[in-house]
Amino acid sequence: MVSPDGAAPAAVDLGVSYAGMSLKNPILTASGTFGYGQELEGLLDVASLGGLCTKGISPARRSGNPSPRICETASGMINSIGLENVGVDGFLDAKLPYLAGLTRAGSSVWVNFFGTDFDGYVECARRLAEGVAARGGGVSALEMNISCPNVHAGGLEFGTDPAVARKLVRACKDTLDAAGSPLRLLVKLTPNITDVVALARAVADGGADGITLINTLSAMAIDARKRRPRIATIFGGLSGPAIKPVALRMVYQVHRARVPIPICGIGGITSGEDAAEFLLAGASCVQVGTQSFAEPGAAARVLAELTAFCRETRVARVADLIGALDTGDTRPPACIT
Ligand SMILES: Cc1cc2nc3c(=O)[nH]c(=O)nc-3n(C[C@H](O)[C@H](O)[C@H](O)COP(=O)(O)O)c2cc1C
Repeated sequence: MVSPDGAAPAAVDLGVSYAGMSLKNPILTASGTFGYGQELEGLLDVASLGGLCTKGISPARRSGNPSPRICETASGMINSIGLENVGVDGFLDAKLPYLAGLTRAGSSVWVNFFGTDFDGYVECARRLAEGVAARGGGVSALEMNISCPNVHAGGLEFGTDPAVARKLVRACKDTLDAAGSPLRLLVKLTPNITDVVALARAVADGGADGITLINTLSAMAIDARKRRPRIATIFGGLSGPAIKPVALRMVYQVHRARVPIPICGIGGITSGEDAAEFLLAGASCVQVGTQSFAEPGAAARVLAELTAFCRETRVARVADLIGALDTGDTRPPACIT
């Protein structure tokens, strides 16, 4: 809502609700780009953020892929970290105590997780839910990364087939319900598909509480002089400003299709105005990813800039930006190129 008298609002209401959670503001940090939060303490006020999403956790710890596993590209980077992480037990013992403190300070803590097969996902969800509950809480949601290769299906990503994705989400949701867990189940989709709406509908049908859009785009980079790929695994995931237009398009498509669960937007956000674009496209909150590598305090700056953007554009409640894109003629064009 624009301030009634057209004047800049004295204070901007930054609160949003997302998947049944109250966020003090819509800015979170993205999985894999912010460690487990504690590493960034001292570089920004982590507790000032709406929330934080951890590095992806698997049932057992993983050491990831061989180097080189990161390379810079035009307006972005490619990574093939290989989901290196401390595993469920390492997370519960070493990382949760700090994160529980953030929860007490009013930030929303999301734990990203995955498995390398169907049962691995379900086991991970169950052990995280039980482990967090046994330690008195401190986490609001599990964010399920379904962009992982299914070792029993020739390496095909779980998140590329709506029927498989629905079944997997349903199994994890049932597991959380059976454990009496209050944790929300959020599902992070891969952009490496042709029909994002079909996939979004499938995970909503499976019982997801929210959708995170998007993960990295499958990509490669070549060193022509050496005639070698720049990443040891040849392919990796592209992130950063280069993918923002793709992410915006997918958020908007899912929002326009009225998939009945809310969206967290992510991909190439480097400024408060970028964040506003995702909210206008239909996201209820956003995550800042790759920019944190170049600038550890990026998420806090994005929050300050979004607040200033609201003031300048006379928006009293940031929630009023959500889905407020004015498309004029909303008919899809017959041909888009
Ligand atoms: C180095 C690196 C590691 C990542 N690790 C994870 C991960 O463990 N789980 C996950 O779901 N996404 C992971 N991502 C994807 C990001 O969370 C995010 O979806 C993606 O980078 C797009 O956002 P950005 O352009 O702001 O970085 C990773 C990205 C990068 C660059």
